[in-house]
Amino acid sequence: MSRIEAARAILAANDRGGYTVPTNRLYPFQWNWDSAFVAMGWATFDFDRAWREIERLLEGQWEDGLVPQIVFHAPSEDYFPGPAVWGIARTPPTSGIPQPPVLATAARFVLERHGEDGIARARAIYPKLIANHLWWQHARDPDDTGLVATLHPWETGMDNSPAWDAALERVPTETQTEIRRRDTGHVDAAFRPRGVEYQRFIHLVDLFRGTGWDAVRMLQLSPFKVADVGTNAILLRAERDLLALAERFGTAEERDTIASRIARKETVIAGLWDEPLGHYLTRDLIGGGLIPVRTSAGFLPLFAGLHDHAAALAERIDAWRRRGIGLVPSTDPDAASFEPQRYWRGPVWAVVNWMIARGLREAGLDATADSVASETRRLIGDAGFSEYFNPIDSAGIGGGTFSWTAAIDLLLGEEAQR
Ligand code: DGY
Repeated sequence: MSRIEAARAILAANDRGGYTVPTNRLYPFQWNWDSAFVAMGWATFDFDRAWREIERLLEGQWEDGLVPQIVFHAPSEDYFPGPAVWGIARTPPTSGIPQPPVLATAARFVLERHGEDGIARARAIYPKLIANHLWWQHARDPDDTGLVATLHPWETGMDNSPAWDAALERVPTETQTEIRRRDTGHVDAAFRPRGVEYQRFIHLVDLFRGTGWDAVRMLQLSPFKVADVGTNAILLRAERDLLALAERFGTAEERDTIASRIARKETVIAGLWDEPLGHYLTRDLIGGGLIPVRTSAGFLPLFAGLHDHAAALAERIDAWRRRGIGLVPSTDPDAASFEPQRYWRGPVWAVVNWMIARGLREAGLDATADSVASETRRLIGDAGFSEYFNPIDSAGIGGGTFSWTAAIDLLLGEEAQR
């Protein structure tokens, strides 16, 4: 089987009927940002299936515009916390928090490749994307600061990043829900978040469920509140892609609203740059300061089109490459909190690399973009389509036959041909 066939076969094997599970057993439902990347992967060989991925995710959208982190299309005992813990009476059941909003970027990507034949599908999706971006504004930035708040580490997709450590200390470890982790039955516990982090994750779910998932009360009550540089950068990128869709499908008023959000976000995300650390950082919205931990999320303003510090960011990546560190580690390998095999505390993630490489390329830094892209391909080629990779010994770790890793391999494989 060729490499392309192998990647396509993973998407096909993880297809559960119009939606793709991230991998068998460990993640048996539809995840929000996974599906956005996976839709782009499907678009390299099956447009209908690419649109279905997005449409099925949007089956979980709430009336207020939230596109939840998980849509529980079919029951499974393989994952905790399942629908009963979230306590959200919807069909299909969903979780009650967002994930990084890659969806508008994915929709634009699929449409541009599909061309005129994709217009009807994109037109039907467009109002839902508009509603989702309004949700971010109303639910997570009601004061119009330009930065959206994150209330749960799961919302960032980077669950146990050391960037959350200090802010998570404010979250009590008591839970009403009995914690019955399933993840550590599927993969080595050394690759996963620690028990105390799960206690805090579930404490937050209990707290939010107690508000009836009321967006205003969640924002008021949450003891964890950060302006995540990753989420905000991805949202800024998504706003630009939504504006491109609005040029086709929207009203002048919608275009003006999106453009003014973009202008505001450009200014405030630029303010997340920290000169002493030479990196973009997350702001702690309770403590007030920038959180002094360099993570891979801090490269994502490049993907958002902010290029002022592109050369310095590229130099950091180049320096890691010269030292033989696998690109791009999710945590600075020189940080005390770096753990090369524990989920978001060090491992390399292909989707993050794809965004960073794209940002570098758009900033005109082709050599570093090529390093990141070819390093991603090398890791996948050597270790397989793993969930993530150890940047020190290049081992593939976490879940295997992973959908978004396969999708990124298809995308990078095509780009390498050009
Ligand atoms: C998990 O359960 O590990 C997921 O990252 C939550 O989205």
